[in-house]
Amino acid sequence: MLKGKKILLGVCGSIAAYKSAFLVRLLVKQGAEVRVVMTPSATSFITPLTLATLAKHPAYVNYFEESDGTWHNHVELGLWADLMLIAPASANTLSKLAHGLCDNLLTAVYLSARCPVWVAPAMDLDMYAHPSTQANLNALRSYGNSVVEAESGELASGLEGQGRMAEPEHIIEALQEHFSESLPLAGKKALVTAGPTHEAIDPVRFIGNHSTGKMGFALAEVLAQLGAEVTLISGPSSLPDPSGAQRVNVASAQEMLDAAQAVFPATDIAIFAAAVADYRPATVAEQKIKKSEETLSLELVKNPDIAKTLGAQKQPHQLLVGFALETENGLEHAHGKLTRKNLDLIVLNSPSAEGTGFGHDTNRITLLSPHTKPKEFELKSKKEVARDIVDEIIAFSNR
Ligand code: PMT
Repeated sequence: MLKGKKILLGVCGSIAAYKSAFLVRLLVKQGAEVRVVMTPSATSFITPLTLATLAKHPAYVNYFEESDGTWHNHVELGLWADLMLIAPASANTLSKLAHGLCDNLLTAVYLSARCPVWVAPAMDLDMYAHPSTQANLNALRSYGNSVVEAESGELASGLEGQGRMAEPEHIIEALQEHFSESLPLAGKKALVTAGPTHEAIDPVRFIGNHSTGKMGFALAEVLAQLGAEVTLISGPSSLPDPSGAQRVNVASAQEMLDAAQAVFPATDIAIFAAAVADYRPATVAEQKIKKSEETLSLELVKNPDIAKTLGAQKQPHQLLVGFALETENGLEHAHGKLTRKNLDLIVLNSPSAEGTGFGHDTNRITLLSPHTKPKEFELKSKKEVARDIVDEIIAFSNR
């Protein structure tokens, strides 16, 4: 959720400044880009070098560097950030922020920031409870800023009570929640089928296909990045779990259908990217089939069609997206599947064009919906293709 987010961390003079080092580390670990601004008194508690090393970028304290005259533009810093977090926020700085005082780089950046601003106060319990501090926090809330309440426990003074800065993990959770709420798929539940199915012939053999799961896994990752709660139902695949998705491993088409049925009623978006075997052996031999005759016949029976089964159960709030893997008459066949399976969108791709279909890291797709013209896309990475598909889903749901 914090991946790629630009976080500007303001650090004030407080014993809790040592926790800023953990905060920077956690933010960087989550993939955030971090810049640090410190008040001059913060440097008495933690060195700029410590925070700069963890942030992999210089920490700013003054408007300019005395050594070479480099100017740290507070306006640029304020505009750069996706979010400014002041942690720890001392009683002194909170008071300055509440009243528009601007006597150091941190307070100047605060006044210039157009992004959401969060403060995590840290001070002794009586300072925290004091009506002036509470009035300052309320003033900040009234400006649209957010407060991560101080936590209770043992304080540096030896007293016990509310005033210690929230633990870095709790602050990170609050930021993650903030970013997920502003994502376009926040609150949506998505289901993705991916990979091949394996239909057992005997204990050692199966009928399968060349799907690796790359397309479906990319979709699961993009959906999660955009805020959806994702269940990825995967046939046998050696790919690692996509971040943010709940993975359910299955082998056969019947198992994939059972897993999909279990989550479908609560699903808002279902994408069927799996290459499901259309047929399975009528019986599965209990023992390994021995090589005896010159030929061997297998009787195959039809597998359930997962997309079609769920398409027949579709509710008005649900949006269903299928894939069509076609070698000829692609548009015609894809349209047929769109209608027969009661889908809202279908992604046409080919197993034979260069760089597309099974196993490749790229794909080239055409998107079809019942009432719009087919939309063709360039050859792109499967991650970018997934983003195109999900963007189309978002646009479709907003129609
Ligand atoms: O996994 P990769 O190596 O990245 O390859 C990606 C892919 C080529 C597998 C993927 O892009 C793709 O095209 N997936 C669908 C393959 C397929 O089975 O297409 P189809 O035209 O046979 O099926 C039409 C639709 O019905 C598909 O959404 C399919 O998931 C679904 N289906 C089909 C049969 C069945 N029994 N149940 C289904 O749900």
